Amino acid sequence: MEWTCWTLRGSEVERVGGRLGENRLRLHEVVVHGRKFPLNEVVDCLGNGSVILMHGVIAEHADTLMEEIATAVGLQEELELQAGFAAFLGHRTSVGRFFMTVNSRSDFQFIGPHSEGDGNINMQLAAFFCFENTTDGGETVLLEVDEESASWCSLRESVTRLAGSSRPLTLREFARVRAVHRLRSPADYVKASDRVFSEKRSDLPGVQLAHVLAEPEKAFSRLLDRKIFTYWDTISAVDHTSLTEFARLLDDFRLLKRPQHAADLSSMDSMKNDRIWSSNVGFERIFKSALILRLTSGDLVICSNHKWAHAAANWTPSTGVRRIAAAFA
Ligand SMILES: [Fe+2]
Repeated sequence: MEWTCWTLRGSEVERVGGRLGENRLRLHEVVVHGRKFPLNEVVDCLGNGSVILMHGVIAEHADTLMEEIATAVGLQEELELQAGFAAFLGHRTSVGRFFMTVNSRSDFQFIGPHSEGDGNINMQLAAFFCFENTTDGGETVLLEVDEESASWCSLRESVTRLAGSSRPLTLREFARVRAVHRLRSPADYVKASDRVFSEKRSDLPGVQLAHVLAEPEKAFSRLLDRKIFTYWDTISAVDHTSLTEFARLLDDFRLLKRPQHAADLSSMDSMKNDRIWSSNVGFERIFKSALILRLTSGDLVICSNHKWAHAAANWTPSTGVRRIAAAFA
């Protein structure tokens, strides 16, 4: 059978003035006709860390197409699990079998860069399907992590551990505490390198938890077949510098929309209540390049959740509708 699709090759945009620039060579574009697309090409691209942008996907086919790709890379179970998990937690609404709504936001709010989840859940694949985007912004921004950078040790991840005064947990207790507090193991005690931020209550007698800022650890990417540092939600959301760096990046690419009576940046920040410290690590020290994607109806983006942090630019309210759904595996 002959594929009735074709592939567009990108062109490179060099980094400007030492700041983070776009590298369109990291983008692999494919046009889909009906249900037909070059699966092997997509799998190869995921393996080499490229971002795949599929054009012409019919909304009713997005789930099937996603399932086909997840199965080909051995992540079908994880795709189903994540869809069920998000619906259970109630912070997202299902849109089809695997896709779900993206987090809601207020006027002028943007979503800063992050990889979905944390090293404990270790999600492998991120995908975004665009039903429509008729706003004057709302670009999808992807940032490629610099695996070799020494600056990862200057970041901190928000982690829950057992306080030193706590007794260890039984496996049954651990399953419960893991689900609620994301504890990583039954005897994951506070480490000497941790900065304890606050104590957390536990409803188990003799069990005390601590919220700490911990040194990031590499996580294993099944797509890339190696351990890499990842800009998890739990790293980006707690860092004030992540907010100022993202606003600067949006400004550099002329994407930042400001309210007429300029409020401060925190009013545009969907994570303002979570930020508790400043790393002072510039994005050019932990990311290699950016991709700015103005998605239109029928576009589907798929990438490694480890290699690429995703974000969304803001837009001027009332300029249109932005309807994008996400799937993770
Ligand atoms: Fe996300």
